[in-house]
Amino acid sequence: MDLQINSFEDYKRVYEYSVAEPEKFWAGIADTFTWRKKWDKVLNWNFTEPNIRWFEGAKLNITENCLDRHLETLGNQPAIIWEPNDPEEDHRVLTYKQLHDKVCQFANVLKNNGAQKGDRICIYMPMVPELAIAVLACARIGAIHSVVFGGFSAQSIADRIQDASCSLVITSDGAFRGGKEIPMKSVIDDALVRCPSVKKVIVLTRSRTPVSMIKGRDAWWEDEVKKVETMGNPDCPAEEMDAEDMLFILYTSGSTGKPKGVVHTCGGYMVYTGYTFANVFQYQPGEVYFCTADIGWITGHSYIVYGPLSQGATSLMFEGIPTWPDAGRLWNIVQIHKANILYTAPTALRSLMGFGLDPVIGKDLSSLKKLGSVGEPINEEAWHWFDDHIGHNKCPIVDTWWQTETGGIMISPIAGVTPTKPGYATLPLPGIQPILVDENGKEIEGNDVSGNLCIRYPWPGMLRTTYGDHERCRTTYFATYENLYFTGDGCLRDADGYYKITGRVDDVLNVSGHRLGTAEVENAINMHANVIESAVVGYPHDIKGQGVYAFVVCPEKHGTDESTRKDIVMTVSRIIGPIAKPDKIQFVSGLPKTRSGKIMRRILRKIAEGDTSNLGDTSTLLDPAVVTEIKEGRI
Ligand code: WT7
Repeated sequence: MDLQINSFEDYKRVYEYSVAEPEKFWAGIADTFTWRKKWDKVLNWNFTEPNIRWFEGAKLNITENCLDRHLETLGNQPAIIWEPNDPEEDHRVLTYKQLHDKVCQFANVLKNNGAQKGDRICIYMPMVPELAIAVLACARIGAIHSVVFGGFSAQSIADRIQDASCSLVITSDGAFRGGKEIPMKSVIDDALVRCPSVKKVIVLTRSRTPVSMIKGRDAWWEDEVKKVETMGNPDCPAEEMDAEDMLFILYTSGSTGKPKGVVHTCGGYMVYTGYTFANVFQYQPGEVYFCTADIGWITGHSYIVYGPLSQGATSLMFEGIPTWPDAGRLWNIVQIHKANILYTAPTALRSLMGFGLDPVIGKDLSSLKKLGSVGEPINEEAWHWFDDHIGHNKCPIVDTWWQTETGGIMISPIAGVTPTKPGYATLPLPGIQPILVDENGKEIEGNDVSGNLCIRYPWPGMLRTTYGDHERCRTTYFATYENLYFTGDGCLRDADGYYKITGRVDDVLNVSGHRLGTAEVENAINMHANVIESAVVGYPHDIKGQGVYAFVVCPEKHGTDESTRKDIVMTVSRIIGPIAKPDKIQFVSGLPKTRSGKIMRRILRKIAEGDTSNLGDTSTLLDPAVVTEIKEGRI
């Protein structure tokens, strides 16, 4: 069976084959990768435990697929082009050969510092090439990386390090992001007060801000590299991994207070990210691919590092932010590096739209051939702006729906091959079987319908467990509906059978494309000394997609309402990180609760959205008067 997808007809044929013969389909895709030993069985699965095993018995190392196998043909091709935060600083290019050597070198550094296969290593770094090198070096020696986004607080880092018992941390002295300098090592020092499992910290020099270096524990990246250089042998043979060995943990928010460590494994994740990258973006040899995500999130893992590199692509990585030094920064980067593919987030587009067309005018965007969107629903206005002003109506836009848990893109157009439709993720990729269900788990068939989005058959990139707590994985994703993976998203399927993701149906917010649990933010607000209780909901926000609206019971304030609001914001920043700061805080005398004490979020959501005309049934409320007060006090 020919699995090449070059036309809509090919798509339909391959899709049908993938449903009729899933194991043969995935074996065909997996055959295009390099294995030390091929699998004994393509798939073993049940969604009840759940137990999902892809390519069982196969042996590989993902870095041999991302690096070694390209050396002969693409050794001198750029693997990573790095654009610094400050446009005055030189950009850097790492060819596949250079990246391979640096990964081997740093893998040896890790080994010298006691790291072994199966160890968990926390990475807290800015968007510099060394972040990709650190990630790949872990994979090289079979250590499990847990990258924590640079915007998380010391407390959040400590929680994640403890949950996975990490033995080693890789960080930098400081980081540059726009006009700000972030004290990375100092944040790590605060976190490590609570992390006895950490024996070593390796610190990359980036800002050369003063940092404390603790004897026996902390070492500079550059010094450690020198040590392995003087030892001679720069090579580091890749550790042989089972297909189902853990590759990494990535923490993500859910509807409970505590983030979950989503676990991905070596073989399936490699096959899935490589397959989706090659197909969705229709990557052609020599193209420059630019994804604006941070490696601290799944998009960066799958579509800056592993997917592009396994396909021998040139991945452009950017340290800074789209609005610094001005709102033309992304367009300058596209122009300078002649980027052919641009993959970004609706929130970035909406924020740039706010600056008008001046920052775009005069920029040479003629290199662009394909555009992509990820992380949240893209509104039609942003879609058209992207199409008109960035793609000049000649670049297909792939609106890619997926999740940390899915490992890679699930529902999306295939660039230039399948149709696009503004606001729609359109059709499932071959190998993916979506299904819509009602609250009782009954399938909603036919078109022009909506329901809860589930997936009914495994795919290689899916999560295998949540670290240290398999039961949590089962209850969160596999227990809501029997024999289905539940995404947590609402979805409509239009008359043509095209999918449009309408947003979360659980207590999860999507703020600027970042996932936040309402319970998590509430816990942080409740840490403030004067707060008695709180309820957090999302509301439509012009740029962020969703904003954080907090209803807070705080009868005794220290100072004014305004200063107390600022204290609460600071508390959330310290507990979770600046990304979770509430946009609006309304002080209330009580929360609307049922007689059994459950907060009626439905009512609060409506008030936050400004839709107070019909709040639905409030007769079960303990104290209906509180609703009137909250309505009147709305910000
Ligand atoms: C949630 C997953 C996908 C990687 C980055 C975010 C929302 C994601 C889309 C899209 C509408 C989208 C969903 C999903 N989402 N992509 N194209 N259209 N919604 O990963 O943090 O795991 O969040 O983001 O609600 O469940 P994540």
